[in-house]
Amino acid sequence: MATIRDVAKLAGVSTTTVSHVLNDTRFVSEQAKAAVEAAVKQLNYVPNAVARSLKGGSSRVLGMLVTDSNNPFYADLIQWVDKVAYRHGYNLILCNTQGCAERASDYIDMLNQRRVDGMLVMSADARQVPMSAFGAMPLVLMDSGPAEVGCDRILDDSERGGYLATKYLLEQGHTHIGILAGPLNKKNSQNRLEGYRRAYAETNLEYASTWVQSGDFSYQGGYDAMAALLQQRGRVSAVFAGNDLMAMGAARAASEQGLRIPQDLSLVGYDDIPGAQYFNPPLTTIQQPVQQLAEQAIELLLKRIADPKRAGECAMLAPTLIERHSVAPLN
Ligand code: RIB
Repeated sequence: MATIRDVAKLAGVSTTTVSHVLNDTRFVSEQAKAAVEAAVKQLNYVPNAVARSLKGGSSRVLGMLVTDSNNPFYADLIQWVDKVAYRHGYNLILCNTQGCAERASDYIDMLNQRRVDGMLVMSADARQVPMSAFGAMPLVLMDSGPAEVGCDRILDDSERGGYLATKYLLEQGHTHIGILAGPLNKKNSQNRLEGYRRAYAETNLEYASTWVQSGDFSYQGGYDAMAALLQQRGRVSAVFAGNDLMAMGAARAASEQGLRIPQDLSLVGYDDIPGAQYFNPPLTTIQQPVQQLAEQAIELLLKRIADPKRAGECAMLAPTLIERHSVAPLN
């Protein structure tokens, strides 16, 4: 593969002149410029992107930190982020921290060394990713980042999502509605629970504290939370699960106790992962606008890269209810 030296030698100029021609950083005579361009063409020379970024240019690479790419919601979102980044002429380096603080800071160092232009940070739970570790790196937080951080963030309106799910169940005549919230130390779980409370507060009904269970946003977490809910006295007729994975785990726990969905128990999930429509019965759920999340996250990040001093922005996207067949009206 040709190097910058080969180009300089063939063109009869110094490597510095070649660099100035390629980066358009200083006046170079037309004659020298033409010689360099001809040599580049003849040798099929491709400038090294990393070397160029070391000289202060753009690497056209973005990093993305995720804590849990096993959840199909993230797989879907990552696919969109990658598509949108590509459309803008960027490559994406994906790093899965698996919720481990040590891995997270190693990845941040590595992405810094690779001179990425900016990073997207999913679920930037303060315990997993110390914000100070990012230094001056252009950054956009997605999903459930800590609220106090003044940097750019893009979120779905989880409070509204929780409200929509619960209100829908109330409108279907259910008065005893359980919630299987996600981990209660996560902002999005807290907000979904807040939405549940707001929907109840608009009625003259009350929910029992034992109807509020939580899990870790996994199938097993949903299974365990549902099993705990079914042990309570005063059975619920409907359940809102904090995400689709938990809804699916909950359905299994319910069926092991002889309950059919939706005849004996109505169920609403959250996310609208691709599997939700193939679930049996197809799952009624709250859809997060994944494509829009990806588009706006990249847009925000590119704006931050172009203008590192602009004030932090928080964009909130509206979730919607997708009606399928896991809820039955209560007569
Ligand atoms: O990280 C778990 C959950 O948070 C996902 O299922 C999705 O709902 C996200 O917002």
